[in-house]
Amino acid sequence: MTQDIRVALVTGAASGIGLATARHFARQGLRTVLLDRSPQVEAIARELPSGATALVADVGRSEEVHAAMAQVEARFGRCDILVNNAGIHPKKDGGKWKIEEIPLAQWNEVLAINLTSAFLFCQLALPLMRAQRWGRIVNVSSRGGRTVSPVASAHYAATKAGMIGFTRIAALEGAPDHITANCVAPGPIHSAMTAGSSPEIRAAFEKAVPLGRYGDPADIAATVGFLASDAAGFITGAVFDVNGGTFMP
Ligand SMILES: NC(=O)c1ccc[n+]([C@@H]2O[C@H](COP(=O)([O-])OP(=O)(O)OC[C@H]3O[C@@H](n4cnc5c(N)ncnc54)[C@H](O)[C@@H]3O)[C@@H](O)[C@H]2O)c1
Repeated sequence: MTQDIRVALVTGAASGIGLATARHFARQGLRTVLLDRSPQVEAIARELPSGATALVADVGRSEEVHAAMAQVEARFGRCDILVNNAGIHPKKDGGKWKIEEIPLAQWNEVLAINLTSAFLFCQLALPLMRAQRWGRIVNVSSRGGRTVSPVASAHYAATKAGMIGFTRIAALEGAPDHITANCVAPGPIHSAMTAGSSPEIRAAFEKAVPLGRYGDPADIAATVGFLASDAAGFITGAVFDVNGGTFMP
């Protein structure tokens, strides 16, 4: 199989890490599918090279995930690379929600968007990958799923830790068909998500990064791109900490 016909699906691709990842794949000549609930993703895809396409869908709604994957299958007949990146991190006045304060509806929404969506996309993409006997799943976790974090609320941390456990099972189940599954766990990255934190929290967090800066979405895209490549064929079930040194297990 030649690299240039691979189809790469990136969720949450209208902004931040997902957008940088989609750009990375499109520059490599992959057929890149940008999925986001924001309709802006359509204009973004039009500006990318290699005939990138857009899908507008809410990953927190199973019927929309099914419809989106049906479109990928109908259009391309394959899905070689899946990046489960879409995520939310609701803030309370720019900071954390305490467990006692989190409304059940918000807890359920965070679980649906950050974790259940990865399960649904994998459930639908795995048969397409098995048919090719090749696949790459990259799930975006977080430093907040690796250890306690000054900014992560309980629902967010639970989904990001859950993503790691889920990925290990996907790695085991995919391995016989040469499908790898790995996590990237970013530290603080400049994006719309971190822009929602208060200026005090952002300044304190930046000071605590040994490399002395917030990361750029492109820092994460480079790691995702590597994990999605042939060069990473012997890496599976791993977590890549891309965090400027803020967490060194
Ligand atoms: N920015 C950071 O510091 C950081 C750190 C660790 C992990 N992450 C993770 O990286 C991923 C991307 O975050 P980001 O920083 O680029 O944030 P972002 O807010 O810039 O981008 C998130 C994108 O996901 C989309 N999205 C959200 N909910 C969706 C839904 N229900 N359906 C479809 N699309 C949806 C948004 O529209 C947006 O385009 C998230 O999973 C996040 O948890 C980010």
